[in-house]
Amino acid sequence: MKKFLVLLLISVLMLSVFMTGCSSDTPAEEAPADEESTEEVATEEETSEEASAGDEMVEINLISGAVGQELELNKEIAEMYMDENPNVVVNIFDSPDAATDRLGLYLQFLESKSSEVDVYQIDVIWPGDLAAHLVDLNEYGAEAVADDHFAPIVENNTVDGKLVAIPWFTDAGLLYYRSDLLEKYDLDVPATWDELEASAKIIQEGERADNPDFWGYVWQGNAYEGLTCDAIEWLDSNGGGTVINKDKEITVFNEKAIEIVDQAASWVGTISPEGVTSFQEEEARNMFQGGNAAFMRNWPYAYSLGNSDDSVIKGKFDVSPLPSGDSGSGAAALGGWQLAVSKYSENPEIAADVALYFANEKSQKMRAIVGSYNPTIKSLYEDEDVLEASPFFGSLYDVFVNATPRPSTQTAPNYNAVSTAFFTSVHSVLTGEMDAEDAFEELQYDLQDITDFEIK
Ligand code: GLC
Repeated sequence: MKKFLVLLLISVLMLSVFMTGCSSDTPAEEAPADEESTEEVATEEETSEEASAGDEMVEINLISGAVGQELELNKEIAEMYMDENPNVVVNIFDSPDAATDRLGLYLQFLESKSSEVDVYQIDVIWPGDLAAHLVDLNEYGAEAVADDHFAPIVENNTVDGKLVAIPWFTDAGLLYYRSDLLEKYDLDVPATWDELEASAKIIQEGERADNPDFWGYVWQGNAYEGLTCDAIEWLDSNGGGTVINKDKEITVFNEKAIEIVDQAASWVGTISPEGVTSFQEEEARNMFQGGNAAFMRNWPYAYSLGNSDDSVIKGKFDVSPLPSGDSGSGAAALGGWQLAVSKYSENPEIAADVALYFANEKSQKMRAIVGSYNPTIKSLYEDEDVLEASPFFGSLYDVFVNATPRPSTQTAPNYNAVSTAFFTSVHSVLTGEMDAEDAFEELQYDLQDITDFEIK
């Protein structure tokens, strides 16, 4: 279904680009083809029947993620909005799970100035790269609510004084562990990577007696944005920096970074399955939630799913900060998603109203309780219902507010190229093609070509 929608969106886009390109010699009666194709997409969703006959209906297309429960929850919020605004139809479309692929799809729409998508769910690393295509939400009422959200995220989303996206949910990498198995093998929650390695081995060996498919540690090793997050955590947790520092210097070729990435490569095929080098978030979650792994690195969304009624690990796991290396302290990559309105939308005012509604307290509270998506609205971290559903929002609050940003602000609009070079390089180490020393030595020159920054 997801693939179908993506293909449909791509073909709609190509059709509209084609029609625009041919407009001078297109017969007048064929011109509305663009609208027809929009309608075709819109039929994927229910349309509101409550609009009174005389009112003009407006359709807003919002493109969202579908990792975990995202799509279902977003459809629910769209329903809530449509109930309150009978003249608006909000269509929710899904997009590829991998952030890198999602960006590719968005750029196809944005670079062709397509009006097909009004509201985009954008990653915390993209405001700088995408700002040129997005409206300033402060011109559409966001100023009144921006202060309710975490200030660093608002700052992250402000490019040249313009608020190009409203914060929606924040993310930080966490260590998931099977509390029942730590108890069974009399082990503590690991505080360092060495401890994690040792405990993963013990539990894996023990559990394999009954379950040959059992592994010690699962994480995101595919060559995509998720690997950039995992690897930034390794580096920062070991005092190895974050690839490019805030002063715009390339720091990746350093001993601590090399050491920890070589260590991570040694997990592949030992405490982590060989296939981990093609795992994204959902592959890791499926293995952990299926009862086949002792530890997992993942984002908070996996918490509520792991505790769902049909989960075999319900009540048997917990979360903690990620381990630290020998010479650092544990680090969590800062993730999260925002809502942005396209400059090319035909209805930017209504699109902005939809974006602000999705990001408002009521919607964030619902998503926090049902899906363990971390709010960006500060007051929700003191909300009893939210804390009851996800107690770690309170106990790991410091992890969320001190998470390590990827170097997106200082490298914009080239962050995606920087990240792609980094995860490709790390992936070559994980798959054994190169060792980290050679890979990072080469990488620093690639990063210099991309950014023109100095090597430190
Ligand atoms: C999560 C994070 C996002 C990150 C992505 C990588 O969705 O919220 O910021 O880029 O994972 O896979």
